Amino acid sequence: YKRITTKSLIEMKSQGEKISMLTAYDFTMAKIVDTAGVDVILVGDSASNVMAGHETTLPITLDQMIYHASSVVRGVERALVVVDLPFGTYQSDPKEALRSAIRIMKESGGHAVKMEGGKEIKDSVKKLLHAGIPVMGHLGLTPQSIYKFGSYTVRAKEDAEAEKLLEDAMLLENLGCFAVVLEKIPAALAKKVAESLTIPVIGIGAGGGVDGQVLVIHDMLGMNNEFSPRFLRRYLNLFEDMTTAIGQYSADVKSSDFPNEKEQY
Ligand code: KIV
Ligand code: NA
Repeated sequence: YKRITTKSLIEMKSQGEKISMLTAYDFTMAKIVDTAGVDVILVGDSASNVMAGHETTLPITLDQMIYHASSVVRGVERALVVVDLPFGTYQSDPKEALRSAIRIMKESGGHAVKMEGGKEIKDSVKKLLHAGIPVMGHLGLTPQSIYKFGSYTVRAKEDAEAEKLLEDAMLLENLGCFAVVLEKIPAALAKKVAESLTIPVIGIGAGGGVDGQVLVIHDMLGMNNEFSPRFLRRYLNLFEDMTTAIGQYSADVKSSDFPNEKEQY
């Protein structure tokens, strides 16, 4: 295998090869995802939801993201590891954004960062890129703005918001971002954005007209049986399978079936 770089992703787009991306938050899961051949591993701030049980992505801290990211990096040999800059660590000013991104790069060993927003964070994106830190953009339903949106429904259905999204995507490309995530927007708009950019557009709930797809690993493995948006395809029903297996273990302990003669010293 060859290590995936930001350059390889742009090359994949130009050759029409779709990009696969999944989240991971710990060493063991990252090793599995990397071994399976996924191109990009996102240490998402969705860790706030799936790892810590928060209702939103807002509470997760920079230190917590660095802990997750450093664990992931130790499990990865091939994939590009992208780390979310968490809420509150880059919106105030470009210097703070750079300090936060530098901490992620130095302390976790991640290969790139992801930030939510377009024009509003232009100066911060520039600052990071000038410092040599690759930036992935994120537009559409950006969960760090959930209290502004008020709900998790599809974004950019109206012309004004769709136009701003396309402008923001082009701005991010012109600034030098290596890719953009589009979350929960109409498929036709996402396709138009992908066709307008030379950098890859990775979709989640953005249809098949983009250059790659990303999902939260706990969702696609069916570990979370309470979350069923239309865009989610479940490849396993791990919540059920694990509950059954763990229930069997507990029953075996209680019945003294486990451990048996061979399972002891
Ligand atoms: O945090 C995350 O998991 C994400 C993806 C859903 C794009 O940002
Ligand atoms: Na995120």
